[in-house]
Amino acid sequence: MQQMTLDEKLQLVHGTGWGVLREGSQVPARSNHGAGFMLGIDRLGIPDINLADSAVGVRMAAPDSRYATLLPSVLGLAATWDNSAAHLYGEVLGRELRAQGFNMSIGGGVDLTREPRNGRNFEYAGEDPVLAGNIVGHLALGVQSQRVMGDIKHYAINDQETGRSVVDVQMDERTMRETDLLAFEIAIKMAQPAGVMCSYNLVNGEHACENDYLLDRVLKKDFGFRGWVLSDWEATHSTVKSANSGLDQEMPGEDFFGGSLKQAIASGQVSMARLEDMDHRILRSMFANGVVDDPPVRRVVDPFRGKDDSRRIAEESIVLLKNNSAQLPLRAASLHSITLIGGHADVGVLSGGGSAQVDAPGGNAIDPAHGGTQWGKPVYFPSSPMKAIQRLASSVSIRYISGDDPAAAARMAGASDIAIVFATQYMTESVDSPTLSLPGQQDALIQSVAAANSHTIVVLETGGPVSMPWIGSVSGVLEAWYPGIAGGEAIADILFGAVNPSAKLPITFAKSDADLPSPRIAGMTAENKPRRELNEDRHTSFKMSYPEGLAVGYRWFEVQHRQPLFAFGHGLSYTTFKYSDLAVDSVARTVRFRLANTGPVAGAEVAQLYVTLPSAAGEPFQRLAGWQRVELEPGESRTVSIKLDPAWISTFDVSSHAWKLPPGEYRVAVGYSSDEAALHGKLLIR
Ligand code: BGC
Repeated sequence: MQQMTLDEKLQLVHGTGWGVLREGSQVPARSNHGAGFMLGIDRLGIPDINLADSAVGVRMAAPDSRYATLLPSVLGLAATWDNSAAHLYGEVLGRELRAQGFNMSIGGGVDLTREPRNGRNFEYAGEDPVLAGNIVGHLALGVQSQRVMGDIKHYAINDQETGRSVVDVQMDERTMRETDLLAFEIAIKMAQPAGVMCSYNLVNGEHACENDYLLDRVLKKDFGFRGWVLSDWEATHSTVKSANSGLDQEMPGEDFFGGSLKQAIASGQVSMARLEDMDHRILRSMFANGVVDDPPVRRVVDPFRGKDDSRRIAEESIVLLKNNSAQLPLRAASLHSITLIGGHADVGVLSGGGSAQVDAPGGNAIDPAHGGTQWGKPVYFPSSPMKAIQRLASSVSIRYISGDDPAAAARMAGASDIAIVFATQYMTESVDSPTLSLPGQQDALIQSVAAANSHTIVVLETGGPVSMPWIGSVSGVLEAWYPGIAGGEAIADILFGAVNPSAKLPITFAKSDADLPSPRIAGMTAENKPRRELNEDRHTSFKMSYPEGLAVGYRWFEVQHRQPLFAFGHGLSYTTFKYSDLAVDSVARTVRFRLANTGPVAGAEVAQLYVTLPSAAGEPFQRLAGWQRVELEPGESRTVSIKLDPAWISTFDVSSHAWKLPPGEYRVAVGYSSDEAALHGKLLIR
């Protein structure tokens, strides 16, 4: 710092233009062609920062003839409830970023699902702050374990894409701290990421990137965040206000943190100490993550290792939602014919769009002739569920039909033993889905297939929850999210029981839009059509108060006495589990119970612990307070012990600006899901 000139100090606090992201803009000579670039200081041996979007895999690899593994959605990762899977997920990202020459990841989305139709939910970890914070914290640790700087985004309360640059979220402090900000707090304290990206939206009247409460007071002081705050792309709106509220780096260019910051320093509106604090945060994070001492060395990414890791995570992430009369797993020996319908299941699996889009090897599997990725166009990856099923059931006749003609699909389905419909919902940054319904005619297609064959199974490849008006007519449903480069194999493994499903929903599936806290998304146009890039219309700011407040996700359904279609935490297995012997130790704040695999095959149960605070807390709903993923052989049982972490179940007291664990009696529920407890107890906190 002592040796840096003023211009050098300024050089680190902004990026260099839109680079490869925007056609026609200047690409810095040393850019590695990622989403962002910060020019280092050669004279002092300070390397450049090359940043790549990497929510579910490294973005924009193909134009440079590089390969990147597509992982399952982050939402799918959250469905594993498995910290080691999250760490592995981050390791894959970090390893491939490094091999491609990047020293910083942009990813780690942990915005809470208040809006289940949000176009980016697949990049996030669901609706519970404790689950989401843990999953994304472990993911960021995994990235940084590869000596690549990690990032957590979009800070904060960027919970819908509709009007994302103009929506002014109104939320009281207690609600923020106990829900959306708690997810960030857990992840950030756990991983100490190099970067936190502030978001496009406003919070209580101030843009997130110039919001003193969010940046200075909460993130830096309360969370003790030691890295730097970088703005989302063009989410910086001022020089003096942003700098003095805690923004440390403008991305991607220098509209505010270049010449105008220099002037503000000259005039004393921003102090030199503040500029040095920005630089210090950037430099210490570079050293802390090893990118100075051990810079990335380019290598060829190993696609096979990536695929194996992706498959392992996918197999833990696919949720068996419904399984009537043990329809699944399918037994090839007792079947003659299966019809596969729709979702391009003959060639591949769907991926999510926007800045999380990864390039598919060989181009889009449904349109290889047109090669590369285009913004807003669904990309399928070459992992064919049909081929994977053929491999597992070589004696069975497997046919595929697109489903464009529902009558033809129903006829073919009616003539086979089993029908499997692959239903898809493409989601992407900047657009929300106006409804929970599956797009196009897919609901009608499923209805007609189910009418023709009583053994109809639906495999969903969706960004988030969807409604299922046909649920009563099908015998099985799998939620595969966007399952990644080994998705086809993972789906087939679950369908045929090569893998016993163990995932549980990290998000509530409502029966219909009418049951959601906001039946209609605020800011949607009158016709209920997503106004694409409404965020670019900077003159139509509107306020959004999420009506559920503290009662986000499953808590809303509890306080409203509404039955969801599938509850938070729900997920079936091919074996059965039994819970018994609950013992609650109020002094040690530990909950112990016995879990047994009482069924025929090995399996894993995600045992969940919920608590309801004493009534004086004013929170008449249960909160997830812990869980454990337990693998058990048939007949095996084990004692599970979960220690309550007070940070996960406290309330935020606004007047003292402090967390409190309210004294009194806590109701404890342990079991299969948020709506199916097996054991009940009480915990006394004095
Ligand atoms: C997205 C960020 C992304 C950035 C750079 C923005 O539009 O909101 O998540 O990292 O672009 O691509």
